Amino acid sequence: MAKNKNIIGIVGLGYVGLPLALEFSKKTKVIGFDLNEKRISELSKGLDRNSEIKNSKIKKNKNLIFSVNKNRLNSCNVFIVTVPTPIDDKNRPDLKFVKKACETVGVYLKKKSIFILESTVYPGCTENFCVPILEKISKLKYNKDFFCGYSPERINPGDSKHNFKNIVKVTSGSNKKISLKIDKIYKSIFKFTHKAESIKIAESAKVIENIQRDLNIALVNELSIILDKLKINTNKVIEAAGTKWNFQKFFPGLVGGHCISVDPYYLTHVAKLNKYNPKVILAGRKINNYMKFQVVKKFLLSIKNRKISIKKAKILVMGITFKENVSDIRNSQSIEVIKMLQRKKLKLDIYDPLIKKNTIEHNNKKIYLIKKLPKKSVYDAILILTPHDKIKSIPVKKILTMCKKNFVLFDIKNYLNLKIKEYIKL
Ligand SMILES: NC(=O)c1ccc[n+]([C@@H]2O[C@H](COP(=O)([O-])OP(=O)(O)OC[C@H]3O[C@@H](n4cnc5c(N)ncnc54)[C@H](O)[C@@H]3O)[C@@H](O)[C@H]2O)c1
Repeated sequence: MAKNKNIIGIVGLGYVGLPLALEFSKKTKVIGFDLNEKRISELSKGLDRNSEIKNSKIKKNKNLIFSVNKNRLNSCNVFIVTVPTPIDDKNRPDLKFVKKACETVGVYLKKKSIFILESTVYPGCTENFCVPILEKISKLKYNKDFFCGYSPERINPGDSKHNFKNIVKVTSGSNKKISLKIDKIYKSIFKFTHKAESIKIAESAKVIENIQRDLNIALVNELSIILDKLKINTNKVIEAAGTKWNFQKFFPGLVGGHCISVDPYYLTHVAKLNKYNPKVILAGRKINNYMKFQVVKKFLLSIKNRKISIKKAKILVMGITFKENVSDIRNSQSIEVIKMLQRKKLKLDIYDPLIKKNTIEHNNKKIYLIKKLPKKSVYDAILILTPHDKIKSIPVKKILTMCKKNFVLFDIKNYLNLKIKEYIKL
């Protein structure tokens, strides 16, 4: 039974929008709108191709309508926008999806409607970019006729530990009364909320959370390059340093995806518009973007050092998504590594248990996957890039059985932690 009389329109039913729509529909009526007909058709059949939600949970629910028909939004008084916010080829914010979503919502805004943005943006975007579009289309006045809010998303795909029951949801609104109202809306599904003082504070909080993570990883990535040159084991150094009370452990690796590797550019963009040229944030991005070259360099050098012919070597690459335990390949640095190896004409078998298809397309390039691992020793080298739990559950013995007598096993995350000369890590 609906306890809440709001009718919520969720615009964009991806990784962020779908779980939100399902959770809100336990409390109130929800219209889930997406431009992608295939997505709507699959969701209507109870199928989430992102595998974030168990298909059985997308069951028929009389409070929830999935639709590709914009007019369905006409009954809504609260609109939550969860569309992508990528960057363009010059690393500038690409707000075309947000613009289109605002143009859609603008048509259905009525007096007292609330527009809430959840997409990650730069500080000021909701009020300086979205509001003018909403005002223009709806012919209503901001903060008089309709209101806005920003509530950043903290969903962490592939992570079932952090959920609606234990994360703190930051909320904000265009005035005190509305911020209380928006906070109440989110309190209906989140156990904990934090009311930020303004929309700009909430927008900034989201972007700095991801910048902090990007920079922490960048620092340890740079340290790993230096320590590698000095032939010192980075993981052992982190373990030793980690015994200090205020040392925070981060580990080297590839940073891809559509959040951590993208969001910093949203802040650096507004910084530049405001006549400040960011240094540390962009340096971190540079190092993290460089790591794919470091992986390839180290891998090829290890093969050469073991006197294996790079041209003839048969190689197995494991895990190709942008991070562990997700099937998302957008902006995957593991795929960038694969492409670099393929350009060098290396013979690769590519395996990822989370990708169901035999072939995937990534930026107009086809990548073929093997579906079964061999039981015999066929590989000169194995490169483990994204160690999903399903990869980690493969016994070490089985991995070693797939290797020839003379081999290289490069495990960039060091999860195997082997003490053999053939074993390489970042
Ligand atoms: N996925 C995450 O882990 C995560 C975490 C925190 C924040 N975010 C942010 O949340 C936002 C959404 O990310 P996502 O991963 O859910 O994206 P997504 O690509 O998985 O989903 C976006 C959905 O929006 C739809 N869409 C695009 N334009 C539309 C429009 N005008 N009208 C209706 N539907 C439209 C697309 O068809 C797609 O189904 C981004 O700003 C992202 O940075 C994502």
